[in-house]
Amino acid sequence: MAVITCVEDLRKLHKRRVPRMFYDYAESGSWTESTFRRNEAAFAELRLRQRVAVDIGTRNIATDMLGHRCTMPVGIAPTGLAGMQCADGEILGAQAAEAFGVPYVLSTMSICSIEDVAAHTQKPFWFQLYVMKDRDFIAALIQRARQAKCSALVLTLDLQIIGQRHRDLKNNMTAPPRLSLLNMLNMAARPRWCAGMLSTSRRGFGNVIGHARGVSDLTSLSAWSAEQLDPTLNWADVAWVKEQWGGPLILKGIMDAEDAARALDSGADAIIVSNHGGRQLDGAPASIEVLPEIVARVDRRLPVWMDGGIRSGQDVFKAMALGADGTFIGKAYLNGLGAMGKAGVTRVLQLMARELDLTMAFCGHTDINQVDSSVLWRF
Ligand code: GLV
Repeated sequence: MAVITCVEDLRKLHKRRVPRMFYDYAESGSWTESTFRRNEAAFAELRLRQRVAVDIGTRNIATDMLGHRCTMPVGIAPTGLAGMQCADGEILGAQAAEAFGVPYVLSTMSICSIEDVAAHTQKPFWFQLYVMKDRDFIAALIQRARQAKCSALVLTLDLQIIGQRHRDLKNNMTAPPRLSLLNMLNMAARPRWCAGMLSTSRRGFGNVIGHARGVSDLTSLSAWSAEQLDPTLNWADVAWVKEQWGGPLILKGIMDAEDAARALDSGADAIIVSNHGGRQLDGAPASIEVLPEIVARVDRRLPVWMDGGIRSGQDVFKAMALGADGTFIGKAYLNGLGAMGKAGVTRVLQLMARELDLTMAFCGHTDINQVDSSVLWRF
């Protein structure tokens, strides 16, 4: 593809370059995928109010996210298996985010370990945590994040149980890939991806293998992860994590104003309104649809960020207009990574920044931190 003009171009390349099971893992939701689709559709329904003859000569899209100066209000969301989209994916993603000046959140379910990513970056990144039944392992993982100088912990609250993802089931999705004939043919057709994977030793879940009790290889890992998600997770565990961590704590997966109020009471430093990219409760609204209600309830007492369905800087602008203090991209990031590795992630960030800046300008604003819902049409 000669010229990349939008994230959609990178998605197409991603699809061509990465074996189907990993592309589908990134580009899918649970059950009927209605929430997965709604995340994007709800953004598309919001219309922008153009203004003219306003001096838009000097503009600012930079903001602060938990005291970090960010080039724009967009961070990289934690995504499992980024290192299967592209060899060393998490390292490359974190490097691209660092160079661009936006937060990078490393998933518990990453291929590259916390230590791998720390060794290949200069600035602190953030670490996303799943609370598993083995609390000793979780306490040690939090300690590893602290030792690696991660500057915030993102605790995901919406994956006590896992939403059924039909595409993953059909593709026999595992990491590393299960070598069914179909999967092998699919990989053989993507020689660039295969060469990358063969060139790296990082192909298992680096945060877990060799660290969790009884998990020394991939066979024991899959049994471990199947039984380790903790359906009993509750607000007392949030307090426990907060105490273990002792640093900035962000709660992710909030879709209800009452839960946002609980998050506030728990002493969280920020929340992320998220339906897990439509991968958990199918039938839930889009994140952008519940954002205003949560923003109203929180009433500026802590930052409210959101993810889900952001495909362009225009979507970032709309989220900021509806009261978000920042946004995160998951699928768009994986599209860039799968398409072109680090250069692809950089391209996604460049596109988002440009689209955000131009949209803001067309709407007659010069500072992203001053934008409100008057830039949107009400029908
Ligand atoms: C993990 O976070 C997933 O959604 O697969």
